Amino acid sequence: MLRVDSISKQYFINDTVVKANDNISLDVEKGTLIWIYGKSGAGKSSFLNSIVGLNKVDEGRIFWDDYEVTQATTSENSDFRKNNCGLIFQFFELLHSQTAYQNVALPLKLLKRKKEEIQKKVFELFEHFDMVKLMNNKINFLSGGEKQRVAIMRALVTNPSFIIADEITACLDEKTSHFVYAYLKKYIKEKNGIGVFVSHDPLIKDYVDDCYYMESGVLKNVSL
Ligand SMILES: Nc1ncnc2c1ncn2[C@@H]1O[C@H](COP(=O)(O)OP(=O)(O)OP(=O)(O)O)[C@@H](O)[C@H]1O
Ligand SMILES: [Mg+2]
Repeated sequence: MLRVDSISKQYFINDTVVKANDNISLDVEKGTLIWIYGKSGAGKSSFLNSIVGLNKVDEGRIFWDDYEVTQATTSENSDFRKNNCGLIFQFFELLHSQTAYQNVALPLKLLKRKKEEIQKKVFELFEHFDMVKLMNNKINFLSGGEKQRVAIMRALVTNPSFIIADEITACLDEKTSHFVYAYLKKYIKEKNGIGVFVSHDPLIKDYVDDCYYMESGVLKNVSL
């Protein structure tokens, strides 16, 4: 279970205070996928960064089962993400001078997995996402939607329990978006994991269990 208890995060820009996350609390049960939407600048990406410890919150506590992000050190949180979280960032954060294959294989290399195991798993994902032909292309030479799929595969390659995804269908056509959402929903249900998805895309509606609206750092539960 993900438990977020009264977290707040402020940024100071010159003399102005931006409340990116304002006293947010929520619980997400295992096997659940939630959707967060809201205007640009509402605090959605900040919230995702906060719950996985990439942001240090000013107040409040965050737990993934028994693991407390807000008590852990930076390196403990880094290990926690490596072992348990599939992060799909808004701007992909891929290594541009490397190939699609190398990008997807990287998390398993960091976990020191055997070469054969890495090859098998990575190839399987490229097949699922219909990307085999582009496996050896450098990221620089891929389209936006292809990069997006590489970022999704990289997040899934370690079989994480928790998927944290930021605008993952922004560059995808409707058919591919449906495929990606269906794939991730099935994955999370089978794994009994948790999905926290930020999206402007109303297509996601049919694939999620719960919905939240964020405005000026405040998160409200809304009906689907
Ligand atoms: N590292 C930072 N330093 C200072 N201010 C920041 C930082 N990151 C975000 N902000 C500010 O915090 C607020 C929330 O930003 P955030 O990126 O979370 O918005 P968002 O809801 O993800 O927007 P979008 O839909 O455009 O991606 C914005 O006002 C933004 O300018
Ligand atoms: Mg954002």
